[in-house]
Amino acid sequence: MGYTVAVVGATGAVGTQMIKMLEETTLPLDKVRLLASARSVGKTLTFKGQEIEIEETTETAFEGVDIALFSAGGGTSAKFAPYAVKAGAVVVDNTSYFRQNPDVPLVVPEVNAHAMDAHKGIIACPNCSTIQMMVALEPIRQRWGLDRIIVSTYQAVSGAGATAIQETLGQLHEAVVDGVDPKHLTAKILPSGGDKKHYPIAFNALPQIDLFTDNDYTYEEMKMTKETKKIMEDDAIKVSATCVRVPVLSGHSESVYIETIDPAPISDVKEAIANFPGAVLEDDVANQIYPQAINAVGRRETFVGRIRKDLDAENGIHMWIVSDNLLKGAAWNSVQIAESLHERGLVRPTKELVFELK
Ligand SMILES: NC(=O)c1ccc[n+]([C@@H]2O[C@H](COP(=O)([O-])OP(=O)(O)OC[C@H]3O[C@@H](n4cnc5c(N)ncnc54)[C@H](OP(=O)(O)O)[C@@H]3O)[C@@H](O)[C@H]2O)c1
Repeated sequence: MGYTVAVVGATGAVGTQMIKMLEETTLPLDKVRLLASARSVGKTLTFKGQEIEIEETTETAFEGVDIALFSAGGGTSAKFAPYAVKAGAVVVDNTSYFRQNPDVPLVVPEVNAHAMDAHKGIIACPNCSTIQMMVALEPIRQRWGLDRIIVSTYQAVSGAGATAIQETLGQLHEAVVDGVDPKHLTAKILPSGGDKKHYPIAFNALPQIDLFTDNDYTYEEMKMTKETKKIMEDDAIKVSATCVRVPVLSGHSESVYIETIDPAPISDVKEAIANFPGAVLEDDVANQIYPQAINAVGRRETFVGRIRKDLDAENGIHMWIVSDNLLKGAAWNSVQIAESLHERGLVRPTKELVFELK
């Protein structure tokens, strides 16, 4: 007997990658069901060569589902994930809605799979930019401890969904083919669909991802701060982020500065990263080898390079971390969580519903 797995948001940038990850999963699968909004009902998507009809996401859609992978925005998770749990499914949620809920483990399987053991029906998948940073830094934290992290991201437009990819391609066409000045390109989505102003991303770099919070950091930046502390189970780690959108289609890059608690020799740091599951060391500057977004696309690993000692701070280290935001940053991390749940015997209905039915 295999599982029935539902993908909620199956037509989206992440959902379509989840389908690909499920085609290759080690999970015993009986059936895959594809859900999206009412707009997509009547459309089909292919799973292992089979056409599957898209169903509408409703309160009653989850009967018989064992695992529900949600990637359809926070509002959809808030409304429907508790109904999926009530119907007996375990939810793996890709949105930010449940990430800071104390009843919800926030999981990067290589780092804290143990956090799932006491799950109450919903497991949250962290933000894409946090996940890849965790894979690179956990081997360092384990051995030398982490005092502080300062990160600047260079994030791909696919992180803002399928419509942001279309907007970027449209702007590139307008600029290159029609000769429009980049300042006058049509912008309706980025930097944040929910904000008042929109700016071109083509030939540009936008230091805003998501809305601004009261402390002048964006929600994306505060996600990196709060999620790091929750995943690493250490509120004392200092984390400051600057998140920047760049005109790359897929693959997030990060310039990360850390200060370890104990002195960490660079050669040992490289060895620890190279030996950590899910991390790949790409660091040979003599031969110009370092991680690049275009090489990370389609791969599940996190690539780490340019590792070097700070010129002044004794325990300071700089590095460059790259991963495919749609795979390890979302779809693969979610399917990997589902595989870990299976391996740990945790795919089971939750008896007591702790999440509010709306
Ligand atoms: N892109 C990334 O790198 C990334 C990484 C981590 C997490 N996430 C999170 O994952 C979620 C999806 O992101 P995305 O990039 O895949 O977005 P997207 O490309 O815009 O896709 C959105 C998906 O949600 C569905 N949807 C929208 N409203 C719905 C509703 N009311 N009921 C049911 N389904 C609904 C859409 O279905 P229709 O086609 O029917 O409209 C579509 O399948 C977001 O919460 C995002 O923050 C994204």
